[in-house]
This record gives sequence, structure tokens and C-alpha cells, in this order.
Amino acid sequence: MSIKHFPFLIAGEATTTDSRIEIRNPFDGRIVATVSEADPVHIESAIAAASAVATEFASTPVHIRADALIHISTRLNDRHEEIAQLISAESGKPIKWARVEVTRAATTFRWAAEEARRWSGHMQRLDTDAGSDGRLALVHRVPRGPILGIAPFNFPLNLVAHKVAPALAVGAPIIVKPAPATPLSSLVLGELLAETSLPEGAWSVLTVSNEKASEMVQDPRLPVVSFTGSVPVGWAIRDRVPRKHVTLELGGNAAVVVCEDWSDEAGQDFAAERIARFSMYQAGQSCIAVQRVFLHDKHYESMRQRILSWIGMLSTGAPDDDATDVGPLIDERAAVRVEQWIDEAVAGGATVLTGGGRVGAVVEPTVIEDAPRGARVLDDEVFGPVVALCKVSSDEDAFEKVNESRFGLQAGVFTSNLQTAFRASRVLNVGGVIVGDVPSYRADQMPYGGVKDSGTGKEGVLSAMEDLTEEKVLVLTGIDVL
Ligand code: SIN
Repeated sequence: MSIKHFPFLIAGEATTTDSRIEIRNPFDGRIVATVSEADPVHIESAIAAASAVATEFASTPVHIRADALIHISTRLNDRHEEIAQLISAESGKPIKWARVEVTRAATTFRWAAEEARRWSGHMQRLDTDAGSDGRLALVHRVPRGPILGIAPFNFPLNLVAHKVAPALAVGAPIIVKPAPATPLSSLVLGELLAETSLPEGAWSVLTVSNEKASEMVQDPRLPVVSFTGSVPVGWAIRDRVPRKHVTLELGGNAAVVVCEDWSDEAGQDFAAERIARFSMYQAGQSCIAVQRVFLHDKHYESMRQRILSWIGMLSTGAPDDDATDVGPLIDERAAVRVEQWIDEAVAGGATVLTGGGRVGAVVEPTVIEDAPRGARVLDDEVFGPVVALCKVSSDEDAFEKVNESRFGLQAGVFTSNLQTAFRASRVLNVGGVIVGDVPSYRADQMPYGGVKDSGTGKEGVLSAMEDLTEEKVLVLTGIDVL
């Protein structure tokens, strides 16, 4: 069977080069497709086109941008299964989760179309003090400028959508740089963008190395950098370009608290199922995968049994199998690292309750207890199918332990007590608290982003539109104020 080749897209133009990269399936190593790598000359064309179109694009009528966004949403649904298969093949994500990702990406674009039509600004009266009679301000938001969007491998379509859709909604040109391991679904997204009538230069999808992207970060014609990926790379970008607007969606070691009041059987079973599923989904390769579980000692034993039982029901295997819950990590190197972290925890006194093994890039779903303080499976971002159970003596004790982290993305709190829910929201130092569910819950329209080392700035369609723009004021004088 011939291997498909994917061009990259500069200012809407499909472009190939002789420099070809093989994209391999992390599960079995087979070549999924090849992509062309962009040269410096292509990078220059994309940046020049984005810069040249910026003023025109910012004033494109909203209906043109909204129609383009709806077109992309519709076409993602039309090509749903094909794109899901591609995501699964390039990233090793189980096909059931790849399908969810395509559905979510279509929703992200649909939301952006809706928000674009609502995006208006507001009027502010200025005749509030003597000296400003007959004056009125119109406060609106304008793009900060062309954006460099750098995307990770774990959601190769939807986390690209979270950069592209809000950018197009506000009329800001964007150059997307997909993760080197998983560029295929964003190149298909480029094909769909090319079907719209957005102006040339409004978007490009460039397959470039991380080194070349690092040079792009410095380019003054791209005043906004939106990065999702690893913690050290993200903060290094921010430190290198302190005058740019940099949004960072970085890592986490997301925690769940099962509070003292969460004691009925059905509730505990629900919590255990959610903890099992969302510690292991995408083999733990989500910034909000459950990594630390704080269980009140009153129900530690019963919750531990239930979590183990649900984890035992997960099926590990080939990503293209409908039955697979847990597939490979992005590559064997990542799996070896996770295995080392498990071994280190065990050497420090932890017990592996299930899992711990590795074959190639696949790590068995692993549950650990009694991990020692300082163990990397607790303190760092595992990004693998590993969950640590910890006993706590009270809800307050759990909240304190959640906060003993350099990260703060989202936390899940199982409680039926409204006071406890509000207290959790008040005291937990994270970007979002999910009550009655795991931290892995994300609706694409809600604000999403972390504090501390987890990042700066917010995504989620409307939040990203705000983040990519700044307020501008138009003062009118000599008018009869309403
Ligand atoms: C992430 O890994 O940060 C994204 C999680 C999601 O969109 O569900």
C-alpha cells in the first residue's frame, strides 16, 4: 500500500519539499504517512503573509469569519471517522478517544463561530464628571497581532483547534506549528481551512522542527506566542521574549479528593470508575489526567478496592481496536521514563498494587500507594498511566496536600456538601475545581488554564479570544449622550 504524503500549508498554499519526515504509529512502529518539512524560506513566507494581512483580517466582516468557522466545524464532522483514524494512528490514542477528540474539535469551531457573532465591546459614558460633557467611549478589543501557535502531541487536533478557532474568530492571523510526532490531523485541518474564503495569510500550518520554531518565537512580526506543551520549554519561551504576549498551557499532577461525606456505595463506585478511567485515558497523556488521589481514611480501603477493580476492567492494546482503553505512550523513550519513575517510587518504599510493567511504548495501568514524599510519581507530571493513592485524615488535610505541588491546573472534589465545594474552590490553588467529578473534565467553551508552573493565561474559546486581543477605546466628543 502506498504511503500518503502530506504537504504543509503556507498562507493557504499546499507546499512540498524534498525534506520528508516519516510519521510512525507509536504502537507498532509502522509508517503512517510522510510530511514535508518547511525550509527557512517557507517560514519567512508564512510570517510575511501573516504580517501583511493582519490589518485587513482584523476588519473582515464577522459573518465571513463566522461562516468559515462553521464550515470547518461541519467538515470535521463530515470527515469525522477518517480524521479520528489519523489521530489514533499518529499518536497511538485509542480510537474511542480519538473520536471524542474530533467531536470536541468540531464543537470548538462551532463555539468560536457563535462567540465571533457576539463579540462586540461596550459603551462607556464619560459625562460622569465635569469637563467631559458630550463625550462617550466605545470600548472594544482588537487583536494583539499575528500569533505563533505551538501545539502538543497529546490532543493533536483539538489543542490546535483551541488556538486556531479563537484567532480566526477575532481576526488575528495565526501560524500553527504542530508537534513533530503528530502533524497529520492539523494538516487535514489546513485542508479544511483552504476550503474557506479567509484572506491569504490569515492562517498557515507549518511542519517545522522545534529548533526552527524556536527561531520563530523571536520574530517580532509574531507578537503573540500561544504554547501548549512541556513546562521547561514553555517557561523558557516566556523568559526569552518578555515583551511578547505569551500564553502557556503547561503540565500538572492533577489531584482528586474524595471527601469524608462521599460515603454511599453508588457514589463511591461512580468516583472509583471515573478515577480509574481518567487516570488511564490516553495512557495518562493529558495535563488533567488523574495522578494523585486523596482518600479519606474512613473509606480508603473500600475506595482502593473499587479503583483496582475498575482498573482491572480496562483493556490495554492496539489503538485502532474499538475495545482498547489504554494504548501506548507517544514513544518508547517516554514509556521507559515512566517505568523508571515507578521503579524509583518502589525503591523509596511505595507499593505497586497493580501494573508496573512495560512492553515497548506500552506501560501497564499502574496503581501505587505509600509513595514517599518527593517521589516523581507524586511531585512531577508523570504523563503516563500511573496513579498514586494517598490516605488523608480530613478534607482539610487533603486540600493542603493538593496544594503541596508546583502545579495548579485543575482538581476534582467528590463531595455532596455545598459548603465543602465552595471551600475547595476557595482554598485550592488551581485554575479550576470540578465538584462531583475528576479534574480531567473539560468543556471546550469553559476557561481553561493553570496557575503556578502549570502556565499563564487562559484558553477555552471566549477566554482565548480575550487573551489574544487587547482593549482599545474610541472617544466620541460633542455628541448628545444617550
Ligand atoms: C490538556 O492536556 O491540557 C488538554 C486536556 C483536554 O483538552 O481535555
